[in-house]
This record gives sequence, structure tokens and C-alpha cells, in this order.
Amino acid sequence: MTLSANNSLIASTLIERLAREELVDMVPYQSARRLFASGDNEQANNKTWLNANEAPGQGKYQLDSENINRYPDFQPQSLLNAYSNYCGLPTDNILATRGADEGIELIIRSFCRAYQDSILICPPTYGMYAISAENHGAGIVSVPLVNTPQAKCQLDLEGLKTQVGKVKVVFLCSPGNPTGNTLPQAQIQAAIELFKDSAIVVVDEAYYEYTNAILDADQVNTKLITQCDNVIVLRTLSKAFALAGLRCGFTLANKEIITLLSKVIAPYPIAAPVAEIASQALSNDLAIMQARVNSTNTLREQLNDWLKQQHWCNDVFPSDANFVLFRCNSTDEKNKIFNHLVDNNILIRDQSKQQQLENCLRISIGSAEELEQLKIVFALALAVQKNSSS
Ligand SMILES: Cc1ncc(COP(=O)(O)O)c(C=O)c1O
Repeated sequence: MTLSANNSLIASTLIERLAREELVDMVPYQSARRLFASGDNEQANNKTWLNANEAPGQGKYQLDSENINRYPDFQPQSLLNAYSNYCGLPTDNILATRGADEGIELIIRSFCRAYQDSILICPPTYGMYAISAENHGAGIVSVPLVNTPQAKCQLDLEGLKTQVGKVKVVFLCSPGNPTGNTLPQAQIQAAIELFKDSAIVVVDEAYYEYTNAILDADQVNTKLITQCDNVIVLRTLSKAFALAGLRCGFTLANKEIITLLSKVIAPYPIAAPVAEIASQALSNDLAIMQARVNSTNTLREQLNDWLKQQHWCNDVFPSDANFVLFRCNSTDEKNKIFNHLVDNNILIRDQSKQQQLENCLRISIGSAEELEQLKIVFALALAVQKNSSS
């Protein structure tokens, strides 16, 4: 785009003239890997990746390339069966997708007419809801989370009530990214009830396994799918299953919704090797996954306690996920800490541009060694800061 004599922007290239106008200047989602690409292996190995809520550790998987000349099934049965056993829903309530991100996109494309309908988000929240809506031309209504005397980052049910009839899809994130807290079940159910005749309520449970609900098989929101017409649950193998590179997620919903989303999804969304690895992880590695979750939760609580003791840390958000969000005393301090970590090849995520999250940084829970390293570099960052300010 170039500036004309009267200061209006004009398309200057053929592509700018042909492209959807709103995409030309749109900033794509600043994913952890767009901000810091992993590059070649050597570069990746030099860095401590604590910025994308990935889990530490690798599994061992067998791949059979015998039928790789054939297209895979639209929804590989072995994968659906494995996830059905895991989540307790029949296979016709499950759609496997390229990560939960694809589920978000399909839901918006299926329910929102471009330039007519809107989604509702409760910021601070996961950025892809808004980006997918923008890409599709759907409007975005925000009803920010609120702090109550009892708890931080709760749903504003009064605010949600004012939007009934005005939005088609409501995204709730629980545990929330980047806030970390699980929304009280009563609030989720109240939101579902509010929108029961007018909007789909999506409960994004990407971090579900870290909430400990799995231990008592209390998969409450998946049960709601069969009880309420307007509920969708999103899950992923990217977090607790340590398979972010696989790109495999699941949209859980009633049959009618699954049929609708199946009209919009690509013809072969799940690559054969993805189905093979995911099925193995879901069938053989549940105990490994649970041990990883337990260890992550212990490390998270330790980091949480440690952060609370640091004089530069103003606030730590209670987390039920594989990351901790904390607030620094000042922007200057936040920038110094963040940049010093980057200079030492430790990558965490700056969340300070999000509504209500001034001076906040988010640390993904990596291995015990990575977190020890992080604490050492933190101490150095603040020593540097002290020296430079003295
Ligand atoms: C809340 C939330 N939902 C969905 C996703 C996307 O997960 P996936 O890797 O399955 O696309 C993420 C990834 O960070 C997330 O934090």
C-alpha cells in the first residue's frame, strides 16, 4: 500500500488490488514459532523453548509407510476409536482435525456468515479465535474476563447476557490461555444456558489434562455435549501428550454439528503418519502422559512459589495448565527480563499487549533442568539491571 496525495492508502501492486482488502494490512497470528523460528536443529537445540506451552519429552512411535501411496481415510477409524476410548464419547461425536486450531476455524466458517455474523471472546484469551474470525470476515465482540473478590479472570455473565442474540459463537477457554485458570463449572453452564437458543458455546479444553479432572474421569463438559444442543469442546494432543509437532486435535460435539463441520473441513485432514502416531499415543502412552502431567503440575507449583518470592514479581496468576503467567513491577523491568532471557537463548512469551495484562510474561513449564536454568538467568538479568541502574 502507498499513501496518495490526500493521505489515503492506495493499492500499489496487482496482488494488493486483487486481494481481499482487509487482509493486505492484517497482522497474522504472532505464534511462538513466527516470533522465534526453530531454524535448523543446531539452532533449535541451543535454545530453551518455554514460549509455546509445549510439553517436554519425546515418545517412541512406529510408522508403517506401506500404504502411503493411498489417500488416508477422511477420519481414520483407529484414531477415532482411540480418542473415543480416551474421552468416553462415541466416535460420531468426534472430529479429528489439524490441531485444535483447525477446529476453531471450522466452527467459525460453519456458523458465521462473512461480514454478517460475529463471534464472542472473553479476553485476555487465546489469540486464534480473533484471528480466525478476522480471516473469515466475522465480527468480534469482546466481553472481558472480570476479577471478583473471590477469584481472578472469571466470566462476566451480566456482560454475556447483553450479547444474547447478537453473536453466533461464544469461545470460552478453560483452563484459559494465557491466564491459566479453570472457569467454574457453574459459570460455563450459565453461559451455555444463556445462549441455548442463539449461539454455539465452544469450551476450549486444550489444557484439560492438567486440571486433574482426568484422574476422577470427571469429563464434565464432554457430557454436556449430549445434554445441550449448543456445546462444542475442543481438545488437542499438542499439550499433555507432547505432540505439538503432529498437529492433531479433536472437536467434540453432537452428531448434527459434526456433520456440519465435516462439510467444511478438507477432504483428507489427517495425514496417515499423524493418525498412526496419535493412535499409538492414545492407546499405549496414557500412563506416560499422566506421569508427564503430574511432573509438570509439581514443577508449575514450585515455579509459582519461587516467582511469588521475587521482589520484581508483582503478581502470579493461579494456573491449572502447563504454564505460569506473572506480572512484573514495571514495563522497564519486564522488557529487561524478557530481553535478557532471549540473549541467553531462553524464550518465554510476552503477554503484555493483551487487555488487562500490562507487564505480564508467561513461562511454559519445561523440564526441571530448563526451569533451573531459567531461574539462574533470571537472577543474572536482575543483577544486570541493578548494575545498570546503579
Ligand atoms: C487455548 C488453546 N486452544 C487451542 C490451541 C491450539 O492447539 P493445537 O496445537 O491443537 O492447534 C492452543 C495452543 O496453544 C491453545 O492454547
